[in-house]
Amino acid sequence: MCGIVGVIGVPNAPEVLLAGLAKLEYRGYDSAGLYVNDQAGHDFLVKRVGRISALEAAVDASVQGTMGIGHTRWATNGRPTLANAHPHVSADERFYLVHNGVITNAAALQAQYLQGVTLASDTDTEVVVQLIAVFAQTGLSAKAAFRRALQLIEGSYAFCLVDRLDPSTLFVAKNQSPLLIGVGTGFNVVASDALAMLDQTDQFIALADHELVTLTATTVRIEALDGTPVVRAPQTVRLTDGDAELGAYPFYMLKELNEQPTVLRRLLARYTADGQVQLPAAVLQALQAADRLYLVAAGTSYHAGLVGKPLFEQLAGVPTEVHLASEFAYHQQLMAAKPLLIFLTQSGETADLRQVLLKAKAEGWPTLTLTNVASSTLAREADAALSLAAGPEIAVASTKAYTAQVALLAILAQGLGVAQAQPAAAAFNVAHQLSLAASGQAQLIDQAPRLHEAAQHLFTGATRAFYIGRGTDWLVSLEAALKLKEISYIQAEGFAAGELKHGTIALIEADTPVIAFITDPATAAHTRSNAAEVAARGAQVLRIASAALAEPGDQLRLPDLDACLMPLLTVIPAQLLAYFASLDRGYDVDRPRNLAKSVTVE
Ligand code: F6R
Repeated sequence: MCGIVGVIGVPNAPEVLLAGLAKLEYRGYDSAGLYVNDQAGHDFLVKRVGRISALEAAVDASVQGTMGIGHTRWATNGRPTLANAHPHVSADERFYLVHNGVITNAAALQAQYLQGVTLASDTDTEVVVQLIAVFAQTGLSAKAAFRRALQLIEGSYAFCLVDRLDPSTLFVAKNQSPLLIGVGTGFNVVASDALAMLDQTDQFIALADHELVTLTATTVRIEALDGTPVVRAPQTVRLTDGDAELGAYPFYMLKELNEQPTVLRRLLARYTADGQVQLPAAVLQALQAADRLYLVAAGTSYHAGLVGKPLFEQLAGVPTEVHLASEFAYHQQLMAAKPLLIFLTQSGETADLRQVLLKAKAEGWPTLTLTNVASSTLAREADAALSLAAGPEIAVASTKAYTAQVALLAILAQGLGVAQAQPAAAAFNVAHQLSLAASGQAQLIDQAPRLHEAAQHLFTGATRAFYIGRGTDWLVSLEAALKLKEISYIQAEGFAAGELKHGTIALIEADTPVIAFITDPATAAHTRSNAAEVAARGAQVLRIASAALAEPGDQLRLPDLDACLMPLLTVIPAQLLAYFASLDRGYDVDRPRNLAKSVTVE
């Protein structure tokens, strides 16, 4: 979603801002812009619809500055047009503003305060910058005008504001949307994600909601909205667990897909020793204290959570529910007496989850976040957090975070089961199973050329596809369908194989692609029958079976693994099929249309 960068006190602000925006590209956007000021009377506003490369091309050598703000916009209010691209400027051309979030009372504020102002865009952001200008025109200082606007605004925001009359200062504020201050020597920066500014500094201060920051080249002043000063030291942010460079891969998705065996081994090194699970004491205590676990997530992370439920129930004997964060936040559940909410999130910034976290805090429910970004909002604000250790995931389509989430849930389930003396946990060796999964994943990744052929055969000209399976195979079907649709735009559904005949089989016609996962011994025969039923109606069926259950004619064999962890293998061909479907259609695999990597609006 929208990305913000800001800088003050450098000789080459356009360069720093463009490099920062390029690092935020992964979040998803449809237009980009920057404002720079050379603090010597010259300033420049440049915006473009489309890619950052278009913005880069428009920022010629004449565009110079020592401070400025930049933005990638993912359209919420208003179409992706030049007028709606940020930065937005007040009618008197004094204030320039970039914004991430959604202001829910923009229309009311406009009606009340901006009667005489003609808006140039359809955005809620422009309402805010005009509001600041109107307040400043009454004699308030820039900071006081900004504060007054912040006091009236409802909704989510990360703001970075420039007052053209005083370009020695940047004003920053946030509520619900992520924003960090990066502290340099003789300069300071602002970014939605530390990744954007790691080339400049590794010292970052995370902001809390409703804080206002005044930034100069050499000072960072944080205060609460009522003016109370806040003292917070910067923390060192390091890129560990892998890098964010593409290297020799054509797309990040392929790179990240290939990293999955390494991610599994890294998790084993981090959370097990001598084959035994080692968890931080606070995490184990929180798990043991709970009489019911609630896994809360969205999208692919939700699909990983679905695989986690049977792991906790079988290995640890603890009832576990899995919830979509966007539903859980607003619909009251009948909660257990001692719940533990476990947030599963690659980015750690998903607004739907943050809303549940706020609710959990209000209710006094304990919380644990499993995330890939240690400095993220959900990591900081939960009672405890564990790293997914997957390394930066840049492609919008999540791959290695799914693997890391399933594996870490298995580790937690076994750790809890052993601590509770559960016989099933004692009989299970998660370390062994995960190392088998790592080598199994590597074997399957080596089969990429075969899966490319299969994708061509199945999906050329296809407009819809079905993935079917039972038990955990069904759970992987849901993830497989999401992966295919989000990057190839083929309408895809994951189905409990037994349910097809209750309605959906009506959609099967000549050449409809159906991918059947067959790894569950209890139901393999039934799933095979369901695959035969759709084949009899003309479907093109690809059967993917575990070695122990494979039969002649199955197109792909998966190495054997304990059934509860089989999704770690089944998901690999699913990811590869989606990747090749997108590639062959000529799409930008890493940046599918309409999608964002870090979903910071509800
Ligand atoms: C799909 C995908 C999304 C995310 C979802 C949650 O490939 O990546 O469905 O899984 O937006 O994001 P996180 O895990 O960052 O909370």
